[in-house]
Amino acid sequence: MNNLINLKNISKTFLNEKKILVLKKINYSFSKGKVYSLMGPSGSGKSTLLNILSMIDKPSKGSLIIDNKEINFSNTSINDKIRSKKIGIIYQQNNLLPDFTALENVYLPSLALGNNRKKSIEKAKTIIKKIGLSARENHYPSELSGGEMQRIAIARALINEPNILLADEPTGSLDQSTAKDVFKILKNLKEKNRLIIYATHNRFFANMADCKLEMIDGNIKTINGRIK
Ligand SMILES: Nc1ncnc2c1ncn2[C@@H]1O[C@H](COP(=O)(O)OP(=O)(O)OP(=O)(O)O)[C@@H](O)[C@H]1O
Ligand SMILES: [Mg+2]
Repeated sequence: MNNLINLKNISKTFLNEKKILVLKKINYSFSKGKVYSLMGPSGSGKSTLLNILSMIDKPSKGSLIIDNKEINFSNTSINDKIRSKKIGIIYQQNNLLPDFTALENVYLPSLALGNNRKKSIEKAKTIIKKIGLSARENHYPSELSGGEMQRIAIARALINEPNILLADEPTGSLDQSTAKDVFKILKNLKEKNRLIIYATHNRFFANMADCKLEMIDGNIKTINGRIK
């Protein structure tokens, strides 16, 4: 089975002054080895969906199955572990820790998993080298450009070798040419056992995915199922 994530009848309702049904019984399977882009108007539920996939938020109804195991959303400590081991997350604002250097930001999630410090540092350095930022290793986030911060955020998301990579408008705050560089890196992270899903408003970047999805009326619509 190539399915890494299965969504079964996933619904999400938010209760503001009035009830809004953001996700409406979504059934969808995401395969490993594929890159998916998620488009859709502002407010259509892209972030809501990604937050459920990363177990940061829970669905109102339905089930999320990762690696053939149904997620129990009330078991937050187990879910935190699954997230640390299996899922890398990249946001629009990179939310790097301001008081830690680029290198520290990258290796901290590895330490948090209980890995050896020396090995974590070595691994972080290797990843930072791959994204071409060795010279910035000891810089603090405030000393990095937007594109550099986002590349460090990608490195941080990769440190625990996740087989699921979720990115929510990862280049939303970057200019077009810097965004292109970041997307090149993201696209090159495609691997046989890895699933990559990113939300974007940019059609050009959406087209770089193997499979283009759109959130429409609370559901996922496949724009194309092109398999590379
Ligand atoms: N925590 C929350 N409480 C109440 N309503 C929420 C919450 N989070 C999201 N919503 C609502 O759910 C809807 C979907 O929001 P979401 O952030 O998923 O959209 P999006 O597709 O990511 O939009 P954008 O492209 O602007 O990022 C919006 O109407 C939003 O106001
Ligand atoms: Mg969003």
